Amino acid sequence: MNHTSLTNTMADRDFEQVVVCRDPATGLESVIAVHDTTLGPALGGIRMRAYRDLDAAVADALDLAEAMTYKAALAGLDLGGGKSVINADPRRVDRERLIEAHARYIGTLGGRYIPAVDMGTTVHDLDIVGRHVTPVSGRRRDPSVFTAQGVVAAIRAAVTLRDGSTLSGVRVAVQGVGHVGRQVVALLAQEGVEPYAADVDPARLDEVCREFGATPVDVEDILAADVDVIAPCAAGGVLDERALDRLKARYVVGAANNLLAHDAMPTRLTERGIVHVPDFVANAGGLIACEAEVRGDDSSLSADVEAIGHTTRAVLDRALQTGADTVTVAIDLARSRIDARRGARPFFRDRRRGSAMPIVTTPPTREPLLPRTPQAAGGPQ
Ligand code: NAI
Repeated sequence: MNHTSLTNTMADRDFEQVVVCRDPATGLESVIAVHDTTLGPALGGIRMRAYRDLDAAVADALDLAEAMTYKAALAGLDLGGGKSVINADPRRVDRERLIEAHARYIGTLGGRYIPAVDMGTTVHDLDIVGRHVTPVSGRRRDPSVFTAQGVVAAIRAAVTLRDGSTLSGVRVAVQGVGHVGRQVVALLAQEGVEPYAADVDPARLDEVCREFGATPVDVEDILAADVDVIAPCAAGGVLDERALDRLKARYVVGAANNLLAHDAMPTRLTERGIVHVPDFVANAGGLIACEAEVRGDDSSLSADVEAIGHTTRAVLDRALQTGADTVTVAIDLARSRIDARRGARPFFRDRRRGSAMPIVTTPPTREPLLPRTPQAAGGPQ
């Protein structure tokens, strides 16, 4: 991405700030992308990954940060969207020095970006970041369990919305049984679902099949399994034209970030009559848990994660009414919440002394984007 295309992309996609960081002393190459802080500071993970080059790292940071804005807005959180990426192999022996150098750059943003764990980073890494940055999130607990709870709430809402049925006897194929996928299988099994699972790690797959009675499926065939729901919980970009041609499931609801391979896929799914819950709707449970951790208040955590089901219904209802694809509908809903708040808050906010959320000057409102009761969940307010 050259300078012009970066500045054009920032303008086209309304990015507030993109920081490209280099530290010759440690060899650090990293990017901090802050998409939108209208609702609050931008909370998002630090990803460590060996990219093709720095341009690819910038592109990934931008995509992930923008999705975080919509995820937070739709979850009713007073948070903006951001993400940072370190362009390095996570197995590098000098990774701690890179993390430390990256943390110093995050510190220069004065709380506009709140870091958390992501692919390639660990809770230990966040302890290092915490020496330079306050607050950090995701140090106290693994958010994956809440992500899984939200995915299951989304599956339940999607299937019962269209069929009026419960999940008992529904067949769900989970691609990837790592931190999130394993919990998804466990929760689904408790609800009488017939789980199917695939993972490139045979030991992990064996364990999940033994423990929760899931049926193992070949990695190459999981997205084409003869089931009702596909739940991609591995890498992003897995749903492309080829996968769509082979898809037998009526529902696609998973945790994997940016699971659609390209921009035409939402329309293609709609044309095929497939009910697709956007990843940034279904996988918000982890973010909700991180936000509760930063605020130090878990009192409504479980209910807030379950509310992903109401948001799912609202998105699917609106998509049915308008004929638009679910990604367009969900982004419109998120933007309408952000736009409503934009007039009420200045672009940059002052640091509030002693606040857990350092750049929010007004008390957090916690107003839900969508009603929390199923009866009232017909559409956005
Ligand atoms: P993880 O790394 O713990 O698990 C991913 C699993 O997928 C691993 O077991 C891996 O062996 C497997 N896998 C990789 N490629 C595969 C393939 N082609 N076919 C089948 N299995 C494959 O990751 P985690 O934390 O469970 O996250 C899963 C997805 O959900 C990621 O895309 C992540 O970005 C997203 N996500 C995770 C959140 C969390 O709270 N952990 C929050 C929001 C999104």
